[in-house]
Amino acid sequence: MDKFVIKGGVRLNGEVTVSGAKNAVVAILPAIILSDGVCSISNVPQISDVNICIQILEHLGAKVSKLDDKYIIDATKIFKYEVPYELANRMRASYYFLGALLGKYKVAKVPRPGGCHLGDRPIDQHLHAFNVLGAHCDLVPGGDIYCKADRLVGSTIDFDLVSVGSTINAILASVRAEGTTIIENPAKEPHIVDLANFLNSMGANITGAGTDRIKVKGVSKLNGVDYSIIPDQIEAGTYMVAAAATKGDVLIKNVIPAHLEPMTLKLRNMGVHVEEFDDSVRVWVDSDTQLKSVDIKTRPYPGFPTDMQPQFAVLCTLANGDSNVTEGIWDNRFRYVDELRRMGADIKVTVKTASIKGNSKLLGAPVQACDLRAGAALILAGLVATGETSISEIQHIERGYERMDEKLRSLGANIVKKNS
Ligand code: EPU
Repeated sequence: MDKFVIKGGVRLNGEVTVSGAKNAVVAILPAIILSDGVCSISNVPQISDVNICIQILEHLGAKVSKLDDKYIIDATKIFKYEVPYELANRMRASYYFLGALLGKYKVAKVPRPGGCHLGDRPIDQHLHAFNVLGAHCDLVPGGDIYCKADRLVGSTIDFDLVSVGSTINAILASVRAEGTTIIENPAKEPHIVDLANFLNSMGANITGAGTDRIKVKGVSKLNGVDYSIIPDQIEAGTYMVAAAATKGDVLIKNVIPAHLEPMTLKLRNMGVHVEEFDDSVRVWVDSDTQLKSVDIKTRPYPGFPTDMQPQFAVLCTLANGDSNVTEGIWDNRFRYVDELRRMGADIKVTVKTASIKGNSKLLGAPVQACDLRAGAALILAGLVATGETSISEIQHIERGYERMDEKLRSLGANIVKKNS
């Protein structure tokens, strides 16, 4: 198995380019099923979640060709409506194939997504949306979710809670439904807006994405389109923290600064300089600056993103004073804390809050990535730790970060991928 080996202590310096957003592309690739034409998607990140999406599309009958970061996908002759377990269980977002297949063919069978390291991940709100539109959904023997509808008819979907995945599935299933669907209490993340923009560019009629109420007027046809995925706000945020933690000076390119606001605000509170340009941000720390402690609570967008919580926890270990980091989305997103403790961090977790002692001197150690963002946080810890850190289970990191070792090396980091 591969691992990352890092020798810490280098101040990162230079420029890094952010790739396309993972959480947008894993919704947009299944959404291509809804199109009646060929789609060309660029700025696609080279990550394993994309590879799995593509394999699922090919399994269903799509024809895919690739040129650098651009995929040309013809999903007009889909002949299967079932996603196999071997592919679905490698990617949580496989449930977007439910919404997309149902939306176009009125039938879909997708394995129930497995539990993940972040805690309980129910799908009741996804099924609620499909039911409101007129589909019948059952958990069938073998662990699959089977959804079928004679017709999909627009109606009001009122979500009990804000859920990114449920909002995306509601849009996918309603875009070709008869009549108008109103989605109340939707998620407002940039990837929701990106999906709506993609579908609208094909001829869909979606308004209000990014607000508290989305309106989808069903259409009977969607054209093929050329579309470019938005930059990944979490990858950008991770490099912002890498620059701050190593007291470096990094220009992070191909970003939408407005999407980074919650991170920018916290970094500035901590004494980090963030200068915003049209499509880049420069992040740096004066060498004599002692970072200030900060309190963080994760919330749905435009709040502070849960997917940046572990990375900021690492930064808090270096601050002058104690910080509290409260997780407001997931039940179990502090599993990485044990690994940080092995590196010398002093963190206490009580239910949903991590109390982090500052001024820690992190020391290199062998550690294990337990999920994607936990893995990114361990890389950041390795970059500032004294000595050598080796991180195993890096397949979690490669699900969502494109060539992270290479990008960090270009900033001067001493990180290599080794096969052990
Ligand atoms: N929830 C329910 N019922 C549902 C759906 C969600 O109770 O039917 C709960 C969840 O248990 C959770 C909360 O609602 O407590 C929010 O879950 P949400 O549905 O928003 O999460 P998701 O769609 O499964 C996406 C991202 C996650 C990110 C969350 C929150 C993708 C593919 N995944 O997950 O990204 O943490 O939104 O922003 O978009 C990551 O990239 O590392 C990652 C985990």
